Amino acid sequence: MKKIILTGDRPTGRLHIGHYVGSLRRRVQLQNSGEYDKVLIMIADAQALTDNADNPEKVRSNILEVALDYLACGLDPSKSTLFIQSQIPELCELSFYYMNLVTVSRLQRNPTVKTEIKMRNFEANIPVGFFTYPISQAADITAFKATTVPVGEDQAPMLEQCVEIVRRFNNIYGETLVEPKILLPENQACMRLPGIDGKAKMSKSLGNCIYLSEEADELAKKVRIMYTDPNHLKVSDPGTVEGNVVFTYLDAFCRDEHFAAYLPEYANLDELKAHYRRGGLGDVKVKKLLNAILEEELAPIRERRKEFAKDPAAVYDILRKGSLDAREIAAKTLDEVRDAMQINYFK
Ligand code: TRP
Repeated sequence: MKKIILTGDRPTGRLHIGHYVGSLRRRVQLQNSGEYDKVLIMIADAQALTDNADNPEKVRSNILEVALDYLACGLDPSKSTLFIQSQIPELCELSFYYMNLVTVSRLQRNPTVKTEIKMRNFEANIPVGFFTYPISQAADITAFKATTVPVGEDQAPMLEQCVEIVRRFNNIYGETLVEPKILLPENQACMRLPGIDGKAKMSKSLGNCIYLSEEADELAKKVRIMYTDPNHLKVSDPGTVEGNVVFTYLDAFCRDEHFAAYLPEYANLDELKAHYRRGGLGDVKVKKLLNAILEEELAPIRERRKEFAKDPAAVYDILRKGSLDAREIAAKTLDEVRDAMQINYFK
């Protein structure tokens, strides 16, 4: 069986380093590993519209922002298919058939949807499209017969629901669809990067993000005001590493060779943490290290992003070609789906 990756993002804002460690960095590695027959990366504009129906301009403008973030991180259109969800009408058709295979109560039990409904204060006013987006996400995945879906742990319930749909479909209509597997980020700190204020999630609405497009001075400022241990007042005080955002980010970004380059008095992060816990290590020194590491990682991304941003037409052309390629694959799956469902009357 072919190994196929599909994943994507809602275009509701520029991508931040939470996306990067949670997913983007890994995607680039997977793309370059040569282990996959196909890598598809989707800008999920139709899904973004499920809770932004009244704000089409926001979704439209962020298509380019997200595409620039992708290209800047090293997703390469000669190796990966970058495409736009709404340009693949087969996904709507597939969702419509899947709706018959899922109950309302099953959707209501989806923990991610539950939290999101609370977060958006939808309660009784949930748009039907939003409520059913796990079904559309199952269509996204299965239309391309994806075997591997690299996403954050918050997407695990979507994958479970997708697998249920695949099993039910194959059970009723015969083996047609492929069961996908989730691929979670490798390192615990990467699972969910907190905001710079220590809040559980980095999010645009909370204003606590570090963006991939962040300029060097902005980045330094954000590191300077970053939440640490509120009880670590004097340098000599013992400090806590757990829940300390600076250390969480170091967990996600730092490698032993960074110490040789920036803080040779420590061999690795464990030694630095031990010193912080003992007392005698100030926040400023740790933040300087973090800033240097982040700058090293983000500077090339920032520069590449600026290069691509000079020619938006070329970026749209990449997405247009990617969408044509993706549509061809989805159309083939839909042919098989219609055969299996016996709705191929004119064949
Ligand atoms: N729900 C994902 C997010 O919010 C985006 C997405 C849409 C997706 N369809 C997908 C991710 C299919 C993986 C596979 O980021």
